[in-house]
Amino acid sequence: MDMEAHLAATLLAEGGVDEERTLHLVAPKRSKGGTIMAATRLACCVTALSLAAPAWAQDPARGLALMRDSQKGNCSICHLVPGIGLPEDAQGNIGPSLAGVGARLSLAELHARITDARIGNPDTMMPPYGTTEGLVDVDPRYRGRPILTPGEIGDVAAYLSGLTEDAP
Ligand code: HEC
Repeated sequence: MDMEAHLAATLLAEGGVDEERTLHLVAPKRSKGGTIMAATRLACCVTALSLAAPAWAQDPARGLALMRDSQKGNCSICHLVPGIGLPEDAQGNIGPSLAGVGARLSLAELHARITDARIGNPDTMMPPYGTTEGLVDVDPRYRGRPILTPGEIGDVAAYLSGLTEDAP
């Protein structure tokens, strides 16, 4: 097995990449004469992932579940979140509706906002999900660790980046 195929196999074994997911992430394919089709495609994916896709690009469905989870994101307490499956009047309006946010902000911008919304507004009400820096009076359950891991934030950002249409 060559290096790239080995890497691909490892990623697959770890469940880090599945074919459906990689297909979305694949950059223009390189041809590799003589290699078996599937291996070539996987190798391309691995190359594309390491070169082009941010390490956190992951699972939008898991992101949506995290946003809904009251112990995790609980985002709809402040935002209207299209697709979250809650009635509109049960969702908050302290923050802007997230309809169309994927057209307004890039994946990296979404990731940064969710990690620490203070980068956009030092006085924001939005909790910094990915850092504990500068926080005081933190609930003991969350003390010393962020609410969401970078991977979880990647999943949430992936869901939001798919929200490219404004609400009617
Ligand atoms: C306590 C209320 C609150 C919670 C909870 C909250 N937000 Fe926010 N969010 C805000 C406010 C207020 C803004 C408006 C900008 C600002 O003040 O930072 C905002 C802005 C945003 C923006 C930028 C929107 C735009 O159009 O520019 C994104 C993206 C976002 N929030 C995502 C999330 C996600 C994802 C979660 C859950 C993981 C979340 N927010 C939880 C209050 C909240």
